[in-house]
Amino acid sequence: MSPTPAAANVHTALFPGSFDPLTNGHVDIIERGSRVFDRIIVAVAINAEKTPLFSVDERVAMIRDVFRDRRGVEVDTFSGLLVDYARRKGAHALIRGLRAVSDFEYEFQMALMNRRLNHDLETVFLMPDEKYTYTSSRLIKEVFMLGGEVSGLVPPTVEDQLRNKQASLRNPLAGTRKA
Ligand code: PNS
Repeated sequence: MSPTPAAANVHTALFPGSFDPLTNGHVDIIERGSRVFDRIIVAVAINAEKTPLFSVDERVAMIRDVFRDRRGVEVDTFSGLLVDYARRKGAHALIRGLRAVSDFEYEFQMALMNRRLNHDLETVFLMPDEKYTYTSSRLIKEVFMLGGEVSGLVPPTVEDQLRNKQASLRNPLAGTRKA
């Protein structure tokens, strides 16, 4: 069935990433992207991180929880080439966040490689609020696991899950039944 004219005009963008875990910097980018695109698919990459703290299912559940009331924001997973996934989803654009000049080189390489692979897919860079310039999933995990404070840098649901993860790593048998 061919798409209706209305469906054909829906501007879909992917916001791909590892999201291990989602930070308020990501949330800020998704909110900015929602003002530009009708539909944003937050696409959690399977296998992007070799040793993630959270499983893909845990990451998806946290993002779904944060955006549960937001029309136009969907959460999904993908594996393989991002450009192939974008084609399958009918996405015209990729959203990436640029926090600082240090992000630029890696992002520029990815954007140009993705463009080489699919000329019809545009990468759009959005800048988060300055207060998230130094926020990264990697630093959040490190600081939290070493006992530092991360509230305000991640959504409350992510903070809860970090706490649960810390408890389960300290006591791996918690919640398991004795034989
Ligand atoms: O949050 P991240 O780790 O910076 O996200 C990187 C991600 C997942 C977007 C990137 O590694 C990716 O697109 N992986 C899918 C495989 C792919 O298409 N690689 C070629 C990218 S040029």
